[in-house]
Amino acid sequence: MVELDRRAELINRRLEELMSVYTEENAAHQLICAEAMKYSLSAGGKRVRPVLVMEFARIWGDSEGKAADSACALEMIHTFSLIHDDLPCMDDDDLRRGKPSCHKKFGEDMALLAGDALENYAFDVIASDDKLSFEQRVKLIKCLSEAVGVMGMIGGQTVDVRNVGKPFDAELLLKMYSMKTGALIKCACVMGCICAERYDMIPAAEEYAEALGLAFQIVDDILDITADEKKLGKPVHSDAELNKATYPAVFGLEAAKLRAEELTEKAVSVAEGFPDSGFLSELTKYLLKRDY
Ligand code: IPE
Ligand code: IPE
Ligand code: MG
Ligand code: MG
Ligand code: MG
Repeated sequence: MVELDRRAELINRRLEELMSVYTEENAAHQLICAEAMKYSLSAGGKRVRPVLVMEFARIWGDSEGKAADSACALEMIHTFSLIHDDLPCMDDDDLRRGKPSCHKKFGEDMALLAGDALENYAFDVIASDDKLSFEQRVKLIKCLSEAVGVMGMIGGQTVDVRNVGKPFDAELLLKMYSMKTGALIKCACVMGCICAERYDMIPAAEEYAEALGLAFQIVDDILDITADEKKLGKPVHSDAELNKATYPAVFGLEAAKLRAEELTEKAVSVAEGFPDSGFLSELTKYLLKRDY
């Protein structure tokens, strides 16, 4: 999607600036960790979450790009989640964003540390963001730390890895999706509202993001079955090999596609209630049809 790519490019540029703080001079002995961070961050990626942060801020009145560093912080957290997700003790995947996974390139030790370091740097970036008030920074840090934690992404990953081979529970599957993937997507939309100081719009942002988050993970699981590995940039059939509980594995591919469509329609209908929501609606529809 051309407009997504254009906006992703702005995020990429700022990410590069933010990562340039680690240099040969100030981090000579630990530069390998910074290199692993940069490798995974710059390997590509659709930048959906940071673009959502920016777009929610823009829709609710931020015309100065005040949300840019928060957006980058969220992408650092997302990248950390992918680095750890690929580790041999998790999904054991060797390809990510079209390149060898972080642990394949730098070793498991560095993948673990680079993931940890990206998570910490994300909070540092928000705390240091003087375009925002102290109150906004604290709200952003709270929102993000909850979304990452045991009640959010990490909680979802816990359920994901510890439910392999167990009797299937439909309610738990959706709960897992809403934590492992939905939490960061919801956080993206809420962070945008916080950057624009439109706290009144958080419930509507959450309603949109809940539907999008579930649709996004269902599509990810469908792509694991149907996509071309080269295009996807990560291994296909990884879920089946690991006997993961996924929506298509449990309900079938057609039911999964139908559910993703319904959830996308729901998200689009909420988005259409927002002002100047053309891009957001198009992005939401594109994410259903994406092939990577
Ligand atoms: C992949 O996320 C992991 C999920 C939570 C489904 P993305 O599909 O956004 O991955 P990138 O950032 O584009 O690589
Ligand atoms: C991703 O789920 C959830 C994360 C929080 C990283 P997956 O394990 O399906 O993500 P991919 O398919 O490896 O990107
Ligand atoms: Mg996983
Ligand atoms: Mg995985
Ligand atoms: Mg997947």
